[in-house]
Amino acid sequence: MYSFNNDYSECVHPKILDAIVSMNGEQNLGYGVDEQSENTRQIIRQKLKKEDAQIHFLPGGTITNLTFISHALRTYEAVIAASTGHINVHETGAIEATGHKVIAIKTTDGKLTPELIIPVLKEHTDEHAVKPAMVYLSNTTEVGTVYTIDEIIALSQFCKQNNLYLYLDGARLSMGLAVKEAGVNFENLAEYLDAFYIGGTKCGAMFGEALVILNDRLKQNFRFHMKQHGAMMAKGWIVALQFQVLFTDNLYEEIGKHCNEMAGLLSAFFESRGYSFFTPSNTNQIFPILPNHVIRRMREEYIASDWAVIDETHTAVRFCTSYATKREEIERFCERFEEFI
Ligand SMILES: Cc1ncc(COP(=O)(O)O)c(C=O)c1O
Repeated sequence: MYSFNNDYSECVHPKILDAIVSMNGEQNLGYGVDEQSENTRQIIRQKLKKEDAQIHFLPGGTITNLTFISHALRTYEAVIAASTGHINVHETGAIEATGHKVIAIKTTDGKLTPELIIPVLKEHTDEHAVKPAMVYLSNTTEVGTVYTIDEIIALSQFCKQNNLYLYLDGARLSMGLAVKEAGVNFENLAEYLDAFYIGGTKCGAMFGEALVILNDRLKQNFRFHMKQHGAMMAKGWIVALQFQVLFTDNLYEEIGKHCNEMAGLLSAFFESRGYSFFTPSNTNQIFPILPNHVIRRMREEYIASDWAVIDETHTAVRFCTSYATKREEIERFCERFEEFI
């Protein structure tokens, strides 16, 4: 069996493992106040060109979203997300469990725009409904699409005009940034967002995410909130060290590029066989629509997840590539696929 199920099937990028092994005997202070964490923060700040960015290391995506969002919002405030947004569909109501409504906006490509958000603001005008106070984006989105820099700027201006925080979930940021046509880079994320997190778990790290808070108001007392929500790791430096490696010699960018290229080979193969896609994606998650009888045969040798039922005989399947996906595995899949048809 070979798995295209997700981008966290393998343990860790070998360069990160080497770094962990070589510092194994080292002693560090706990809870993120150690030298490793501070050095990594400095490296990230330089990359963002934001000397005053506040950076925290957290263990995973859901806990980062729920800790940050519940820190930023007052009890009666709500967060706006695409209907496909991870906080809306795949976090077991984690945000709602902190008392904040997620207002979902129907989208097919996973992306929000000011035009889509305006009706929500028109519907929430007084104290008899929750107050929208934040817009949540993810890049890449949960359906593999990416925001362009112009789209992010438009959302940023709109959010400022309407007193909304703009927060970006970067679980797959290395893949998002690798789409050069989108024109998004670390510096402009730091310029246009109130906060975002740099994904590690799905981008080659063993685990961990780096939350970047840019808005001064949101920086206040975050560590208290983080600790209270169980998000402050005693061994936080293990995540920091991993980001140090990811930010050395452009490894983070390289990983995203590799993941996208491998998924691109799969896309090209499905296209050449005449299959269409549930959403157009040029990143590491692709969603070809396949006949169910083909999927049944494919399942005997490959793992990939069912994404959406298209009709009685077709299903959109998600194929996901990672830092560890080898070109030979894609070629072998393409050969084997001929037998499944
Ligand atoms: C966009 C996005 N955000 C957050 C998460 C949650 O991450 P975790 O499973 O580490 O809690 C995921 C996981 O798939 C994700 O795809």
